Amino acid sequence: MNSISDREWDAAAYDVLADPQRTWGRAVLDRLPLRGDETVLDAGCGAGGLTAELLERLPRGRVIAVDASRQMTALTRERLEPRFGPRIRVLTADLSSLELDSAVDAIFSNAVFHHVADHRTLFGCMYRALVPGGRLIAQCGGGPNLVTVRAHIAAVAANDPLLAPLVGWDGPWNNADADTTAARLRSVGFCDIETSVTPAPVPFADTAHLRAHLTTIILRSHLHLLGPEPAQQHLLDGVIARMAADQPPLTLDHWRLNISARRPAA
Ligand SMILES: C[S@@+](CC[C@H](N)C(=O)[O-])C[C@H]1O[C@@H](n2cnc3c(N)ncnc32)[C@H](O)[C@@H]1O
Repeated sequence: MNSISDREWDAAAYDVLADPQRTWGRAVLDRLPLRGDETVLDAGCGAGGLTAELLERLPRGRVIAVDASRQMTALTRERLEPRFGPRIRVLTADLSSLELDSAVDAIFSNAVFHHVADHRTLFGCMYRALVPGGRLIAQCGGGPNLVTVRAHIAAVAANDPLLAPLVGWDGPWNNADADTTAARLRSVGFCDIETSVTPAPVPFADTAHLRAHLTTIILRSHLHLLGPEPAQQHLLDGVIARMAADQPPLTLDHWRLNISARRPAA
């Protein structure tokens, strides 16, 4: 079960279970116009699956892949350095205090920003990481993301003494709305801003697959907070039972915040 620190992810398990994130990420890549010779920051690269697809779109370019989790950056390095050599550089760092040696032409980010508490500080760092005229194209949880699942977590926790540490806690996420995000991007200097929040429900064929996804991705921080195994099982059992009774059943009610912005040309 989950014994790693809250900053850490089980990178190998994530890589196997992250099909929804990969599907979303490919749509984000399609929104990023590239000549093929740029240097692009992958902000929150995770296990590196999408980083590889980004590099394939940059035959003469480079990617700087940054993630706060050492397990994630270790797996990304192991997979991508032999294949892409000097065209990939992997850094373990917090995006909210990121300082690069030289600015990048564009920033790609998929399923990351809702894990960051202070978006204004984050966007300021992203702005300073870009060359004048450079683009930020990103997607993350936003708006009513996982409202149903969050209600299930609260209901299960309220009725089980083992889950007391979760009572009153709405999870580790910062699901911002489109207008607030646009205002924050504008406040740090971005222009040509487009933001939207769109539904992206993810159904699961059976409880085993849902349980694995919840354990490694969605409830990672909750399970870490709970600590002992019996409490973790209570949470997973309770949430899955409620999700089985939902309409549609066994479906994560994801909503995605889509971001497109540009640093003004000098
Ligand atoms: C759901 S995964 C997405 C990974 C990858 N972009 C993908 O789409 O598969 C979220 C990632 O964001 C990273 N992350 C969260 N907060 C971060 C921060 N403040 N700085 C850097 N990385 C962060 C996590 O370590 C994790 O690898």
